[in-house]
Amino acid sequence: MHSSIFDQLAKLDSNTQKVSWRSPSNIAIVKYWGKYGRQLPRNTSVSFTLDHAHTDTSIAFQAKENDGEVSVDFLFEGEPKPAFADKIIRFFEGLTDEFGFLHDYHFTIASSNSFPHSSGIASSASSMSALALGLCSIEKALTGWPSTEEEFLAKASHIARLGSGSAARSVYPKVALWGEHNQVMNSSNTKATPIVDVHAAFDGFHDDILIVSAEEKAVSSTAGHALMETNRYASVRYQQAQENIVETLNALATGDILKFGKILEEEAMTLHALMMCSDPSYMLMQPGTISVIEKVRAYRASSMMPLYFTLDAGPNVHLLYPDEVAEPISQFIQEELKPYCHNGLIIKDQVGLGPSMI
Ligand code: PMV
Repeated sequence: MHSSIFDQLAKLDSNTQKVSWRSPSNIAIVKYWGKYGRQLPRNTSVSFTLDHAHTDTSIAFQAKENDGEVSVDFLFEGEPKPAFADKIIRFFEGLTDEFGFLHDYHFTIASSNSFPHSSGIASSASSMSALALGLCSIEKALTGWPSTEEEFLAKASHIARLGSGSAARSVYPKVALWGEHNQVMNSSNTKATPIVDVHAAFDGFHDDILIVSAEEKAVSSTAGHALMETNRYASVRYQQAQENIVETLNALATGDILKFGKILEEEAMTLHALMMCSDPSYMLMQPGTISVIEKVRAYRASSMMPLYFTLDAGPNVHLLYPDEVAEPISQFIQEELKPYCHNGLIIKDQVGLGPSMI
C-alpha cells in the first residue's frame, strides 16, 4: 500500500481549495459481468491494478449558496466535454447522502488520461476512481474524517463503485477483489478489498494491451451486464466465477503462473461466450482478436513461454506475462502481433502500486 497516501491526506485542511489524484485502470482476472440493485455484482471479481494506464483528475471547489443544485464545470484534456460533464453531474446528484457538502460548493474538474482517447480503452475504472478519491479528499479537508488510510480507501472504493463497478478495484495496489465471497474475509459487494498475499512471481507482471480496434464499444457495459439477467447460463457462470476466485487467489499466493494463466483465459473466453449467447447476441471479437489468440497459443506451445491473454468486453487483447521473460516475449509481440493492431498501437503496462495524490 502507498504509505505516503495518509501523510499526504494529513496536509488537507480547511484552507484546501483543490485536490488532485492519479488513479490507474485495472485488468480483471476473474471478471465481473452481471449486476443488480445499485451497482452490486452478481459474482466476485479480482484484478491486477495497472500502472501506466491512468487518469489524472483535479477538483477545485469554491463555496456557493446552497440552492439544492449540483454545480460542476468539467474539462477533459483542456476541452469542455458536455457528455462527460452530464455523467459527472448525475453521479454527484446520486451522492448527496454520502457527501453532505455537494450542494455547498461549485466544482471545477479537469481530467486527462495517459492513454490515447482513440484507443478504444475504457477509462471508467481510472476516471471514476480518481473522481471518488478526489471527493473523499474534499470530505477529509472539510471534516477531518476519515482518520485512517484504511477507512479512506474503503470509502473511496465504495464511491468509485457507484460510478463504475470495476472502478471499486482501482483504489488498491497490485491486486484487489470485489464482491462477497464466503472464503474471503472482509469481502463485500459494496467495496473492494486489497489482496496482499501475492507471490513475488507477480511483481511487475506485464500487461501489453493490443489495440485491435479503436472503435467505440459495440455494447455498453451497462447493457452488457443487463443481458446477464436473461442469459440461461447465468447461474452456472456465477458459480464458475466463485470457484475461479478460490483458484486464482491460490495461484497468486503460491506463484502458480500456469494455473493463473489457465483461469485468466477461461474467464476471457467465458465472458465472450456469454455475450455470443445473449439475446440479442454480440460478437465482440474481431478477426484480429482471433488471429492474436491463435498466435499466442501456438507460440506458447512451441516455446513453453508463460504468455497468456485476456479480454474485456471488446476486441482488444491484453497479454500478460512475468517480468523475467519480458525480453523474448516483447520481441515476439513486436514481430508477430503488432501487425494485427490498429496503427500498430500497443499500450505497455505493468502491475502497479495504486493511486497517488498529485
Ligand atoms: O465496470 P463496468 O460496469 O464497466 O464493467 C466492467 C466489466 C469488465 O471489464 C468486462 C470485467 C471487469 O471485471 O472489469
